Formats: sequence, C-alpha cells, structure tokens
Amino acid sequence: RRPLIIDTDPGIDDAMMLTVAFANKDIFDIRLVTTASGNISQSKANYNAHAFLNYIKEDVTIARGLEQPMFRKLEVAEEIHGAFGFGKVEFPKVEVPENVRPAVAAMRETILASEEKVTIVATGPLTNVGALLLAHPEVKDHIETISWMGGAAQGGNKTAVAEFNAFVDPHAAQIVMQSGVPMSMCGLDVTHKAFVTQTEAKKILDIGTEFAQKAYDLVTYYLDVAKPTPFSEPHYADVLRFHDVSAIMYLLHPEFFKGTDYYVEMSTEGITAGATVVDLYNSTGNKPNVHVLHDVDREAFVKVFMGAVRTISDR
Ligand code: BDR
Ligand code: CA
Repeated sequence: RRPLIIDTDPGIDDAMMLTVAFANKDIFDIRLVTTASGNISQSKANYNAHAFLNYIKEDVTIARGLEQPMFRKLEVAEEIHGAFGFGKVEFPKVEVPENVRPAVAAMRETILASEEKVTIVATGPLTNVGALLLAHPEVKDHIETISWMGGAAQGGNKTAVAEFNAFVDPHAAQIVMQSGVPMSMCGLDVTHKAFVTQTEAKKILDIGTEFAQKAYDLVTYYLDVAKPTPFSEPHYADVLRFHDVSAIMYLLHPEFFKGTDYYVEMSTEGITAGATVVDLYNSTGNKPNVHVLHDVDREAFVKVFMGAVRTISDR
C-alpha cells in the first residue's frame, strides 16, 4: 500500500476527495490528515475534517495546519462552500482534541518515520506543504510525489488568471514548485473536464443510504453557486465539478489522465497574483518542474467516484 498524507480544507469537494481516498485503503495507507486554511478558516477546516472522518468511521491522526497564508491575508470561499464549509449538510458533532501536534511537525515525523517514500495529496492552498519544505528540507528526499489540486495553465476561477488554491497562497505554491520534489498539478484544465452531470449525480441517491443523501446534498449545493462567464464552456453552470477528487483519482488511476511536464512559476503580486504561469513554449529554457494534467477519461472517473460513495455507504 502507498503511504499517504492528505492535506485538505474541507470543503465540499474535499469531502468527496476524502471519500475516494478512504474508500481505497487497499491502495492507500493513509497515515495522516492535515488541515489547510482555505475554503474556510483553520478552525472550521480542522473541525470539519474531524466531523467528516468521524462520520465515515475513520480513526486517523488529524493535525491542525497553519492559520494564515505565508504573506497574504486568508481569503475564504464561504460563498461556494457555505459559512461552515459543508453547504447545508450537517454531520454529528465531535469534540476536537486540543494540543495535538501541529501539521508541519506531524508531516515531518510521519515522513521520516516511513520506510518507503510518502506521497502527499494536497487539495487546498499549499501553506502547510510549503512551510514543511522550508522548515525541514531533509524530508524532500523522502517524498515520492505531491499531487496538488490547484492552478490552471489557462484561465482561473478566483480571478481571471488564478485558481482559488493558487490564489490564496501563491508564495507557498512557488516554494513547493521550486523545491525539487516531484509534483503534479491537477488544475482547472483537467478538473473542468472531470465533471459529473446532474443526471449522473442523481444516481448517488439510488444508493439509498444516509451517506449517499449527504453526498448528494453536498455536491448539489456546490453546483448552485457556479458563476459562468461568456468565456466558460457551455456546460459550465450545469455540471458538478469535483476539483479535489481529481488529485486523488490521479494517484489511484493515473491511466485515466493525460499530462505533460512543464516549467511552472507562480505570479505572486498584483492583478495576476495566484496565476500558475505554465511555460507552454519553454520560452524560459528552464527544466520542467511540474507534471501538468490536461485531460481525463471522464466516464471512468465518474464510475470510480460512484463506487467510492457506495463503499463508504456500506459501512
Ligand atoms: C478548489 O478551490 C476550493 O474551493 C475547492 O475545494 C478546490 O480545492 C477549486 O478551485
Ligand atoms: Ca479544496
């Protein structure tokens, strides 16, 4: 099994990513979950990770991440995920333990304690991962790869040129990209192709469990707030975009995806802050540092996602 650390800001699609990860424990040995500040504040993200994982009966170490991006002030996405991060869906209340190890220390320990290299899947701003690599460069050689949901070679969803996770902490993303650790970028270029139609989503309800109902309510809440522009693809407002699920799906089924290695650098200032500038024409002459995904077998993706909801429902 593949040793895995999950860094997440749950978050609707983050919860669906966790569903796919924990439904595949025969493949993933999930050693640690760390919480990122992004969609919601750190307190809410950390609480939600506890509440969701408790609900799906997972007992995994959850470590609290950094409160704020490296240099910018945290901008949350409560208009997308709801004031508490899970739309209108509630999970049974949980007590969050105090005085647990902070995320960066927990990641370091987990990575160095592992005999095999550890993979990181990150589906929020890269603050925790960036801080880890800055504070403890000795972990670099022990990381297999980082699969990040974030960025876009073309366009954006937070600004015209910036995807949300990249926008929230562009400095952290830059640190991770320049770290020399292998990294894949599951950006909007691919996640906008990894959609689920409303008809497909309704099939979640056929599973007939309380979990399935909650999963349906989560993903359809997210749909309600899509903001199409004259430049979006025609289906944009009408489908469910499971951005974060793509980052775990890529680890599970790399054969579903197409990607190319490019040199990528962050813009950190001004109107383009948060843009992941992908050197498509190699105009810098720099060596590629990121595997940029750009296509996915959508139907295969949806099938595996549905299977995961079913697996978790059976618990
Ligand atoms: C990303 O932004 C967040 O709102 C989602 O959870 C996802 O990680 C998509 O741009
Ligand atoms: Ca996320």
